[in-house]
Amino acid sequence: MLWLAQAFLAIGLARAQSTYPNTIHPNGTIPGELNEAYSPPYYPSPWMDSSATGWAEAYEKAQAFVRQLTLLEKVNLTTGVGWEGEACVGNVGSIPRLGFQALCMQDSPLGVRFADYVSAFPAGGTIAASWDRGEFYRRGYEMGMEQRGKGIDVQLGPVVGPLGRNPKGGRNWEGFSPDPVLSGIAVAETVKGIQDAGVIACTKHYILNEQEHFRSPGTFEDFGFVDAISSNVDDKTLHELYLWPFADAVRAGTGSIMCSYNKANNSQVCQNSYLQNYILKGELGFQGFIMSDWDAQHSGVASTLAGLDMTMPGDTDFDSGYSFWGPNLTLSIINGTVPEWRLDDAATRIMAAYYFVGRDEAQIPTNFNSWSKDTYGYQHAFAKVGYGVINQHVDVRADHYQSIRVAAAKSTVLLKNSGVLPLKGTEKFTAVFGNDAGEGEHGPNGCADRGCDNGTLAMGWGSGTADFPYLITPLEAVKNEVSSNGGMLQSVTDNYAWSQIIALAKQASVAVVFVNADSGEGYITVDGNMGDRNNLTLWQGGEELVRNVSGYCNNTIVVIHSVGPVLVDSFYDSDNITAILWAGLPGQESGNAIADVLYGRVNPGGKLPFTIGTEVSEYGPDLIYEPTNGNNSPQDAFEEGVFIDYRAFDQKNITPVYEFGFGLSYTTFSYSDLKVVKVPAGNYTPTTGLTTAAPSLGNASTDPANYQWPSNLTYVDKYIYPYLNSTDLKEASNDRDYGVEHEYPEGATDGSPQPRIAAGGAPGGNPQLWDVLFTVTATVSNNGTLPGDEVAQLYISLGGPDDPVVALRNFDRLSIQPGQSATFTADITRRDLSNWDTASQNWVITDYSKTVHVGTSSRKLPLSATLEI
Ligand SMILES: *[C@@H]1O[C@H](CO)[C@@H](O)[C@H](O)[C@H]1NC(C)=O
Ligand SMILES: *[C@@H]1O[C@H](CO)[C@@H](O)[C@H](O)[C@H]1NC(C)=O
Ligand SMILES: *[C@@H]1O[C@H](CO)[C@@H](O)[C@H](O)[C@H]1NC(C)=O
Ligand SMILES: *[C@@H]1O[C@H](CO)[C@@H](O)[C@H](O)[C@H]1NC(C)=O
Ligand SMILES: *[C@@H]1O[C@H](CO)[C@@H](O)[C@H](O)[C@H]1NC(C)=O
Ligand SMILES: *[C@@H]1O[C@H](CO)[C@@H](O)[C@H](O)[C@H]1NC(C)=O
Ligand SMILES: *[C@@H]1O[C@H](CO)[C@@H](O)[C@H](O)[C@H]1NC(C)=O
Ligand SMILES: *[C@@H]1O[C@H](CO)[C@@H](O)[C@H](O)[C@H]1NC(C)=O
Ligand SMILES: *[C@@H]1O[C@H](CO)[C@@H](O)[C@H](O)[C@H]1NC(C)=O
Ligand SMILES: *[C@@H]1O[C@H](CO)[C@@H](O)[C@H](O)[C@H]1NC(C)=O
Ligand SMILES: *[C@@H]1O[C@H](CO)[C@@H](O)[C@H](O)[C@H]1NC(C)=O
Repeated sequence: MLWLAQAFLAIGLARAQSTYPNTIHPNGTIPGELNEAYSPPYYPSPWMDSSATGWAEAYEKAQAFVRQLTLLEKVNLTTGVGWEGEACVGNVGSIPRLGFQALCMQDSPLGVRFADYVSAFPAGGTIAASWDRGEFYRRGYEMGMEQRGKGIDVQLGPVVGPLGRNPKGGRNWEGFSPDPVLSGIAVAETVKGIQDAGVIACTKHYILNEQEHFRSPGTFEDFGFVDAISSNVDDKTLHELYLWPFADAVRAGTGSIMCSYNKANNSQVCQNSYLQNYILKGELGFQGFIMSDWDAQHSGVASTLAGLDMTMPGDTDFDSGYSFWGPNLTLSIINGTVPEWRLDDAATRIMAAYYFVGRDEAQIPTNFNSWSKDTYGYQHAFAKVGYGVINQHVDVRADHYQSIRVAAAKSTVLLKNSGVLPLKGTEKFTAVFGNDAGEGEHGPNGCADRGCDNGTLAMGWGSGTADFPYLITPLEAVKNEVSSNGGMLQSVTDNYAWSQIIALAKQASVAVVFVNADSGEGYITVDGNMGDRNNLTLWQGGEELVRNVSGYCNNTIVVIHSVGPVLVDSFYDSDNITAILWAGLPGQESGNAIADVLYGRVNPGGKLPFTIGTEVSEYGPDLIYEPTNGNNSPQDAFEEGVFIDYRAFDQKNITPVYEFGFGLSYTTFSYSDLKVVKVPAGNYTPTTGLTTAAPSLGNASTDPANYQWPSNLTYVDKYIYPYLNSTDLKEASNDRDYGVEHEYPEGATDGSPQPRIAAGGAPGGNPQLWDVLFTVTATVSNNGTLPGDEVAQLYISLGGPDDPVVALRNFDRLSIQPGQSATFTADITRRDLSNWDTASQNWVITDYSKTVHVGTSSRKLPLSATLEI
């Protein structure tokens, strides 16, 4: 299977070279149909920029470090040791000569995966609903502290790819929101939080990995071999939508970015020179390192020249014992195919990220092992060697449970309330319903990587998980509340025990029904869902459950735990449904957080980070569940452009059930007094000039004798090392195609000064994009009777025929006492008002009239003003 995949890729690469000249960004657009998209070549791979804002000190330290390294040591830094070769999900080699501990990369975006004594934080798509920068940052910082305490160097998160093009995408919940600005602000704060804790953030998955089906080449029962799907996108959509939050992550200093499994415009992303060299390291000025997703590397030299800096987990296929790098990288340097400066740059980028976040002071030895929870076991799990203490069971949770509870409650969205909420705790008879209310039969960690939907849902499934230290269920928390008030509470957690459900519903003065919808990563199939959801309806007969309860109880409250939008049209407007809450995937404090909201200790202030519609087709093109265009080249044309989620609903004038940005409170707010002040800013100037030449930090010998196996090293089975097994290069490569003439792309090895990119100039892009052009203020008043939080939202209409009706550009979560007002203040930057211009390859402010809107959701925007530019 893998060999086949490589063959296809080789053909793909060759074709790209022969058909398309090495023109730089042919205005980025795609000739012909989107489903014949191509990705133009861009070489050489940019080397670090010593003058990049914020990176100078880290760069200097990194360069000094890398100057000391031998070729083998540099290769060690870039190449993973193989799957289950060491304690973490990913590990590179060490540099024993300098006492440099190997780097450890560990999942996940919501905590520490495969470890005990760690916290389970709310998922990305849930914290997004808090619309709270402080919560984004704190969650990042606390996760970072836990990773640090376990001896982890790189946290594999946060996620802004998938962005959430289609709500059925299996891993959307790991990321934040299909809105690029909400995602961009959330990712930037999360990166800062993680890195302030002294751990490198790895923002992922770059890019356009919007579905699980066919994300990698593979063999399927129904289809046979299918190559990786190609997400085909035009240049404008790339910039205005999918790349946007990555730019924010780069600007926030993310030390690492993970390239994704899929192809984009028919080129595997981890060897896509346009996306890695031109867009990420060129235009966005990314100074950290690009790490491959696990087995997303499909070539040696091609990926090296296309900008990959670290391969994970290092082997060509899990535990093959071979690598596209390792010995092959050593070979490609000594045989002259790859210039040494490219390897120097990869090593410098890795070390710069290390110094940038202060790992030289924060690093401790790894004290846990991903592959076993036992105290004693094998250090090298796959090879079963190195028996000893592998888990020190270090408790890294501190008091994070407190903020997890606060964050989960702040992320809960009140969708409907006829006045029944908040509950008083003195209700005569409370009934709780649903499989989603209680604990799964095998406990909260009963299914590996949460790969089932048993009991209350508090995270999705796959590698984006952590083990729960405990999971407070809604039933437990509500029962505590009721019993401490001397009330009555009974429950049925079997969704199909209809007669018992109806009998109990009839007795209840209030019924709380918990329902859910799950999804996850494609390597696990749950209830027929191969990662991606098959539909947007509730799971486990949730709709029937709601019908059965609300048919007999006129005070039915529905709580939804879900990975994203679910269809609620069958019940949301029933008079007997007195309240609806969306609680997302709240993490370990789930029950406590929902009880805080239900009983009014927390006044809900969350807002939907997505749209809830009435049918899946409203969201745009479906996911691809069967290979299109043949198994060897499945294509996915992103023909809807920037119109996903609310932008699609607005464009087609479809009224959603609950719109993006919507969320109620137990109090009410009013908006008034919009003021727009123009701020003087200079003209936008494209970045010009040349980079420096590639620095050369070594002069490695080309004599294979220098790179042979050290006689005193014991070979760990299937471990990836940098050494050669033979002085015969072809033999050492173990590659029958070794030395076969390849025409590598023009300019790929050129280390001379290169033109700077007009839209670039600093991490994140041209710094003038962040010039403030307007400052907006508005008054938000709490005209109800309870203290509460309101997320004031600012949208822009860019005014062109191809622009969204409105697009979110800023927001702030304000806490306001009853009878009081607060001032919402937001800047509008040049970036906020710009469109991507494919012809000039830069951002431009068009002549169309621009309007600013301020209000409480994407469809309730009472204040507007024209911007006089
Ligand atoms: C680039 O733009 C020019 C003019 O705007 C157009 O004629 C040409 O077809 C474009 N090239 C590609 C590859 O889209
Ligand atoms: C490379 O890393 C491995 C694993 O940590 C280590 O055993 C080996 O000594 C390292 N090689 C060099 C040249 O540093
Ligand atoms: C070198 O890479 C090729 C694939 O390009 C692979 O088949 C071979 O096994 C690798 N060699 C080693 C020593 O890992
Ligand atoms: C628990 O999960 C397994 C695997 O998804 C499923 O087969 C089983 O029906 C579930 N049990 C309950 C009670 O939901
Ligand atoms: C949607 O998928 C869920 C989970 O597999 C399933 O329980 C439900 O029955 C499906 N809904 C429909 C309408 O098929
Ligand atoms: C609402 O609940 C009452 C019982 O309180 C029931 O008689 C009625 O049929 C229910 N209405 C609906 C629309 O389910
Ligand atoms: C539900 O029905 C009961 C009895 O008919 C009535 O007293 C109560 O006000 C109703 N509750 C709601 C929330 O409509
Ligand atoms: C508060 O303001 C909102 C929005 O203007 C309005 O709809 C609502 O009626 C007001 N509430 C009170 C109690 O005045
Ligand atoms: C192996 O031998 C080399 C060269 O003699 C020496 O520098 C290194 O420390 C030795 N390594 C081990 C693990 O003994
Ligand atoms: C290198 O040699 C060792 C010992 O002979 C062997 O076990 C291993 O498979 C070889 N590795 C590669 C990558 O060829
Ligand atoms: C150089 O080494 C690489 C990695 O093993 C190999 O793919 C390539 O064919 C070699 N090139 C030459 C010219 O020998």
